Amino acid sequence: MGILRNKRRREEREPADSRYGSPSPARAPYDTPSPTAAVELRGVRRRYGRGTGAVHALRGIDLSLPRGSFTAVMGPSGSGKSTFLQCAAGLDLPTEGSVRLGGTEITGMNENQLTELRRSRLGFVFQAFNLLPSLTVEQNVLLPTRLAGGGSARQGRAHAAELLARVGLEGKGHRRPTELSGGQQQRVAIARALVTRPDVIFADEPTGALDTTTAGEVLDLLRSAVDALGATVVMVTHDPVAATHADQVLFLADGLIADRLPRTDATTIAARMRTLATRPALAGAAA
Ligand SMILES: Nc1ncnc2c1ncn2[C@@H]1O[C@H](COP(=O)(O)OP(=O)(O)OP(=O)(O)O)[C@@H](O)[C@H]1O
Ligand SMILES: [Mg+2]
Repeated sequence: MGILRNKRRREEREPADSRYGSPSPARAPYDTPSPTAAVELRGVRRRYGRGTGAVHALRGIDLSLPRGSFTAVMGPSGSGKSTFLQCAAGLDLPTEGSVRLGGTEITGMNENQLTELRRSRLGFVFQAFNLLPSLTVEQNVLLPTRLAGGGSARQGRAHAAELLARVGLEGKGHRRPTELSGGQQQRVAIARALVTRPDVIFADEPTGALDTTTAGEVLDLLRSAVDALGATVVMVTHDPVAATHADQVLFLADGLIADRLPRTDATTIAARMRTLATRPALAGAAA
């Protein structure tokens, strides 16, 4: 991935953002460093471009997510959610700062190491389901293990069948993705994300293209990956209802974590989103 070859560059620290109240001397609840955290970010900054046209997409993220937790990440468009997810998942390299997954520092890894890490320990679910149309459902589910060269064909088929049953697609292994509904395709993508028994599943708007009922089914699957399989899920979403499935909701604004809510109802989450969206942009902060 070309972007990972970008050299990391140092930049001046920006002044602390005081819009969301004075910085508290105590650590925020999402920010207690832990050697056993599934996902840990320290001082993560990501800048696109240089000079006056530079965009500061992440401006200092400190975050520690325990194993077996489900976190929703919300915030206005352009607040840095996707950039955050890409940096946390080793798909993009921060300009500055450290990212640890399961205690392993990933920011110094080369591309081969990152690819291996993504294959063996991470799962991904995106808004566009990203299934390969020329492969069957079963082949799509098994793709990550095939790329890793693991297991016999018979074991693979048994595992795929088990995962397809788990996501409610029993017997659909021989279909092509185009023969399935959007919700069914996203469930295939979740089965594929689970096939390597990942420690962490990163999801960017996984329900963005789905109707409410189908979205609910997909969210239940992510929830059960946490509750039944012990996975850690980090999910970017615009939808307050989707965020109610998470143990906590983090709110990003202008590349910083502006707030956190423990698991709560959609009305409370929507109200918090509205106050973030209506705050005036900080003078001098790059949009
Ligand atoms: N490749 C890029 N080059 C330059 N700027 C970028 C790039 N990717 C993102 N940005 C900028 O970084 C900021 C954060 O973008 P990001 O995609 O992380 O936002 P987001 O919160 O995911 O938004 P959305 O809700 O619209 O998906 C935005 O100002 C965006 O324009
Ligand atoms: Mg985005």
